[in-house]
Amino acid sequence: MQKRTKIYMGCMLALVSVFGLYNFTIYTGEDSRYETPLSEKALHGQTLWQQNNCFSCHQLYGLGGYLGPDLTNVFSDENKGPDYIKAFLNSGIKTMPKFHFSEAEQEAIVTFLKEVDASGYYPNYNATIKPDGWVDIEYKNEK
Ligand code: HEC
Repeated sequence: MQKRTKIYMGCMLALVSVFGLYNFTIYTGEDSRYETPLSEKALHGQTLWQQNNCFSCHQLYGLGGYLGPDLTNVFSDENKGPDYIKAFLNSGIKTMPKFHFSEAEQEAIVTFLKEVDASGYYPNYNATIKPDGWVDIEYKNEK
């Protein structure tokens, strides 16, 4: 084998090992587990959310159906919040069907949305288009 080939093979082997080690640390390290357990009540809310197909029209973190708005931060939105959420549930507004949730079930859904809300922001930034065409991005978790 030529000397150059040996050096090349050596470098490749080193890179592959570093990559392997890097992946091992990332996927097995403590930091890879972002666990935010939902409370019992929120889990009940999650079940109702799933059984009633809220995801077919709504999104959490941008994922879901697009007939209704994203609900990730509807709980902490200063113009919305718990009573606002409840008001939608049994009303039947526009294309949102009229549900018949009991008070306890409404509370459970609100708690589910509250705990989802506490897990982060979506979208994570406010973007403003300036007159010169550049975009100002302000990340919400850096405030
Ligand atoms: C068939 C589609 C559909 C389904 C299913 C549906 N929604 Fe909606 N929802 C909508 C639409 C459309 C709106 C917007 C209505 C409006 O702005 O007047 C909405 C609005 C809302 C709002 C107010 C959001 C905001 O930011 O103003 C909440 C809260 C909500 N829905 C919760 C739910 C929950 C919880 C479920 C499941 C139990 C659900 N929705 C199921 C279509 C749906």
